[in-house]
Amino acid sequence: MSIDYSEKIPNNVDLAGNKTLQRALEHWQPEFLHWWADMGPEGTTSTDVYLRTAISVEPKGWAHFDYVKMPDYRWGIFLTPAEADRKVNFGVHKGEPAWQEVPGEYRSNLRRLIVTQGDTEPASVEQQRHLGLTCPSLYDLRNLFQVNVEEGRHLWAMVYLLHAYFGRDGREEAEALLERRSGDADNPRILGAFNEKTPDWLAFFMFTYFTDRDGKYQLCSLAESGFDPLARTTRFMLTEEAHHMFVGESGVGRIIQRTCEAMVQNKVDDPARLRAMGLIDLPTIQRYLNFHFSVTMDLFGADVSSNAATFYSTGLKGRFDETKIDDDHLLTGATYPVLEVRDGQLVAVPAPALNALNEKLRDDYVKDAVAGIERWNRIIEKSGIAIRLKAPHKAFNRRIGPLSAVRVDPEGRVVPEADWTHRHLQWLPSQADRAFVASLMGRVAEPGKFANWIAPPARGIDNQPVDFQYVRFN
Ligand SMILES: [Fe+2]
Ligand SMILES: [Fe+2]
Repeated sequence: MSIDYSEKIPNNVDLAGNKTLQRALEHWQPEFLHWWADMGPEGTTSTDVYLRTAISVEPKGWAHFDYVKMPDYRWGIFLTPAEADRKVNFGVHKGEPAWQEVPGEYRSNLRRLIVTQGDTEPASVEQQRHLGLTCPSLYDLRNLFQVNVEEGRHLWAMVYLLHAYFGRDGREEAEALLERRSGDADNPRILGAFNEKTPDWLAFFMFTYFTDRDGKYQLCSLAESGFDPLARTTRFMLTEEAHHMFVGESGVGRIIQRTCEAMVQNKVDDPARLRAMGLIDLPTIQRYLNFHFSVTMDLFGADVSSNAATFYSTGLKGRFDETKIDDDHLLTGATYPVLEVRDGQLVAVPAPALNALNEKLRDDYVKDAVAGIERWNRIIEKSGIAIRLKAPHKAFNRRIGPLSAVRVDPEGRVVPEADWTHRHLQWLPSQADRAFVASLMGRVAEPGKFANWIAPPARGIDNQPVDFQYVRFN
């Protein structure tokens, strides 16, 4: 399973043994690089970045660190090793050998799943393309670029499947993935959260904490797929995804730490005074959290969904940790609670479990996301400050599914439209909040120096010191 780096496209899928596929991907490669030059991190063509590159998929081999110019990053195709005698583990085909080719009758659904996942990868690079100009440190700048190149590689992972298994329409989809643009009115990215702006570093850290974590849950479900190449591709993507969530969790944590230290030192808790000191107050952090949490909730799709049922029954997309769940993996006759509004209140009602799989994945995600919020709270608690951050209710600020028809406050109470109008700026970032955060963003690019509003990390990357020259500008 070693990776062939002598090839134009590094890979461990024996691309050289399939000339047609190799030619097709080598034709797509310059288009990808063109997109990167256009939409990747701004003004970085000659910048050397201390990046991690996969050199093998073995646990010890995939994190190799060195200076790389991003356009020279070896974006490649890496699958985790095949599991011998792997089976389809759920749905009507349960127990049959896992598919090495696309089952004809599931072709369009499978393509749709792959395209939807693939579309999020370049979208996030587009959303983050200006952030390098306002980095709070070289350490953070390097982490941003690491996330960006790996999202680029995740696009490669999905494009490989489209080219290798879907013929002409796969190639067309691969081109369309480079044509859509995040936030574009005429040709936007497929999912809502990926058309939002990521205008500042608080938004970036919240995005990598919450929205990359949606990525984790989607990839975990696809890693259970009966279509074996999809399962193997997404498994390797998950090893990279962990770093993205680390960037988010530690980034928000360091902002909280800096604010709390200043609150204690100066005996200040008035947000206006903290802002005057150039710090991000905790209520603003809570509003950003509410925003990113709620737009990410929508990424899981409608609470009750016949598509979700079909994807599961046909063995294409499983549940989180499917094979660790102790049930029949068919879900016929099983139910799962979903929320409905009855008499002006949210109530949980049983829905067929098969149709409620989006909701089930959303709930699994919420547990994971809440655990990290509690780790942020421990930083606040250690400072002796009484404020706590909290995930809003999962029905808060929804745009997708039946809950989008009502207004729900962060506590989960259905509120009249007039209340929402009066109070939503207590719950979600206002223009003034965003303008304030934007006003703090200025480039800090000296080794070991950090912007005033964020604490340094506890340790550096790859055992390097915190004041290491993570990025060299040429
Ligand atoms: Fe990704
Ligand atoms: Fe990611």
